[in-house]
Amino acid sequence: MQEDWTEKYRPRSLSQVVGNESAIRAIRRWAESWAHGVPKVKALILKGEPGIGKTSSALALAYDLKWDVVEMNASDHRNAESIKKVAGIGSMTQTFTLDGEFLSSHSGRRKLIILDEADNLFGREDYGGAKAIVDTIRESSQPILLIANDYYELTRRASALKRLATSVTFRRLDPSAIVVVLRSIAENENVTVSLDTLGKIASNAGGDLRAAINDLQMIVEGRSHLDAEDTDVLGERNQEKELSRALGAMFGAKTVREAQDATLNLDKMPDELEKWIEESIPSEMKDPEDLARAFDALSRSNIYLRRARALQHYGMWSYARTMMTAGVALSRKSGRRPHVSEYRFPSFLIVMSRAKGTRASRKSISSKLAPYFHTSSRMFDESILPYLSKLLTKDRELMVKLGCETELDDGDISNLLHVDSDSSIVKAIRAEIIAIKGEDEVMRKKTPRRKSGRSLAEF
Ligand SMILES: Nc1ncnc2c1ncn2[C@@H]1O[C@H](COP(=O)(O)OP(=O)(O)OP(=O)(O)O)[C@@H](O)[C@H]1O
Ligand SMILES: [Mg+2]
Repeated sequence: MQEDWTEKYRPRSLSQVVGNESAIRAIRRWAESWAHGVPKVKALILKGEPGIGKTSSALALAYDLKWDVVEMNASDHRNAESIKKVAGIGSMTQTFTLDGEFLSSHSGRRKLIILDEADNLFGREDYGGAKAIVDTIRESSQPILLIANDYYELTRRASALKRLATSVTFRRLDPSAIVVVLRSIAENENVTVSLDTLGKIASNAGGDLRAAINDLQMIVEGRSHLDAEDTDVLGERNQEKELSRALGAMFGAKTVREAQDATLNLDKMPDELEKWIEESIPSEMKDPEDLARAFDALSRSNIYLRRARALQHYGMWSYARTMMTAGVALSRKSGRRPHVSEYRFPSFLIVMSRAKGTRASRKSISSKLAPYFHTSSRMFDESILPYLSKLLTKDRELMVKLGCETELDDGDISNLLHVDSDSSIVKAIRAEIIAIKGEDEVMRKKTPRRKSGRSLAEF
């Protein structure tokens, strides 16, 4: 995969951070105040919308001043204890990283503690984390940068932060500033593109430079020239963004009503919404118990969806919606919420369920294998066949075993492996099956097998 341009072009110095001049000045002034001992204001809160340079500025500052960095973000172990531990350790003279590794430091060097996504650091019920941060700032002899999209959420949990830390606001970037960045990236990547086209990408990004760079990279995708029409795909992307926002609100909801309302205005059928939610659960939830609850809620919603279709009783959609939104979102009980900046389109599911092979050949395979998987042929075709087929292309032994245990013919095997039916692979597999089946028949005479109720475990 190609390198992510947002990382590749992340500013390495404060002087490379685009826009937000007054914020950068404020950060520099604060950093200078550390030159002669511990200043009064030990922490800054960098606040603002996503993708406008907050994290980049924090890292660039450390880079410019050659400060060591102890970085912690929302996806790390987030409970009061670990915040205290990490931030507490960071505030002492010597520093260990999150993994407990000793961070070598020259004497006198500052250690910049960066608590990224600080508004996300606390779980729904955990107020201890907020207190840990406040205590840490009070006790720290090292500079601390808190970064947050939602200043209100952060200070609501820890109002003392308002007094202890000075806030620095980052603003969305002007489209013209975004164009400048995009142009230099395009130049560096040897892509010819008109300013007009870059302008379209820039204004579409709504001041979010990260989004603009991502869009540019997506549109370029291996090409060396861009035309104005190439930006047409941004329309689709906007829809995805809208969906991302809705899913973000849904997963962050604290009440049934909030979770339901979050996806209300989306132009999506419940089946499709369900696929999106299904795809997002693993990014949103890390705690196994939360995950289990969420998927359980999703499976209930799935039952309603199917019943609604089967009985043509679409009133059941509302139950399905409640389960897939509120049921899923409120499944988060113990785990904390990681930062998810974008939700993936469940396209891989769609591509995979459009498994190669004609309908007839898939039907043949499904009808033979579905009973072994204790599922209907349709379910097998939609949900299992694509994965099984992938597995089998990589695992010849499994293919042979499956061939031995079932009635798959050469046509089925070739379709499963995506090769021609008269190819040498299919012939070789058939030969192995015959060789084993011969022996197997002998074995079978000694120990008669059950006729039905075989399970996957036998393969
Ligand atoms: N002001 C900027 N100057 C230069 N590059 C920027 C700027 N803002 C964003 N970028 C680009 O976008 C990427 C993401 O920026 P960054 O991580 O700093 O955003 P952020 O404000 O921390 O967003 P979030 O709130 O989502 O964490 C950077 O790696 C960089 O490529
Ligand atoms: Mg950030």
